[in-house]
Amino acid sequence: MTRDYVHGYTSQEVQRLQDQATTLVDLLHADTSYPSGAVLEAGCGVGAQTVTLAAQSPNAHITSVDVSEASLAEARKAVDAMGLSNVTLQRADIFALPFSSQSFDHVFLCFVLEHLARPVAALKALQRVLKPSGTITVIEGDHGSAYFHPDSDYAKRAIQCQVTLQASAGGDALIGRRLYPLLREAEFDHVQVSPRMVYVDASKPTLVDGFTRKTFTAMIEGVRKPALAAELMSAVDFDRGVADLYRTSGDDGVFCYTFFKAQAINPQ
Ligand SMILES: C[S@@+](CC[C@H](N)C(=O)[O-])C[C@H]1O[C@@H](n2cnc3c(N)ncnc32)[C@H](O)[C@@H]1O
Repeated sequence: MTRDYVHGYTSQEVQRLQDQATTLVDLLHADTSYPSGAVLEAGCGVGAQTVTLAAQSPNAHITSVDVSEASLAEARKAVDAMGLSNVTLQRADIFALPFSSQSFDHVFLCFVLEHLARPVAALKALQRVLKPSGTITVIEGDHGSAYFHPDSDYAKRAIQCQVTLQASAGGDALIGRRLYPLLREAEFDHVQVSPRMVYVDASKPTLVDGFTRKTFTAMIEGVRKPALAAELMSAVDFDRGVADLYRTSGDDGVFCYTFFKAQAINPQ
């Protein structure tokens, strides 16, 4: 999976993940807080969510794992820069977690299942290390939820390139809508899914820059090379699609996208 990770591990991607997390902190994390206990963050990447988790739960201990050493090094810098002392960063694969069964009170993962060919198996692997009655929180996007003004078929096709490339790497960029069935299939109880819509117009300049431009459009722009190599679009059409996405961040532009946050309980 690491080899085919659709977004890659470049410095631009590090910045994009950090911009994404900073912009979306309130929307996604206003209700993410663990009063105490041991929390496993699976697929922490560059620590973009880790710093919020740790800061909002000062009395919990966060163990954040990822398969990428390079991302963990960035995460370490982010955690140190914020002076957070309740985080342990460790290299680990979700499918081979080096932890005893039932060793965590909570599991948290964000933007990870979308990259995995076997999301239910990943949830089962995480369930093993979760205590009975422990909670799992999963946040994912769904690129099918993107709509915007001015509308553009080129932009829609450029977004579809990302969906197609992610699917060919075994992932699912439309996974947000599947969180409920996936968690039920993995036999979690009390699954509750809350859609979190980002609505951006020019009256919200922070979101225009942080979300429409630097998170979403930058992500689509980032798949230009593989999209052209796979001949999913011509270079001219793809560039027009990206330009049309940037156009939605103009004075009369509007951009909408929905994230899905699921919470569930491990059965007794
Ligand atoms: C899109 S990034 C999200 C990172 C972070 N959760 C965030 O929201 O910014 C997905 C991360 O999952 C990691 N990952 C993918 N497969 C994994 C696996 N099997 N075990 C652990 N981490 C994995 C990748 O290395 C990558 O850092």
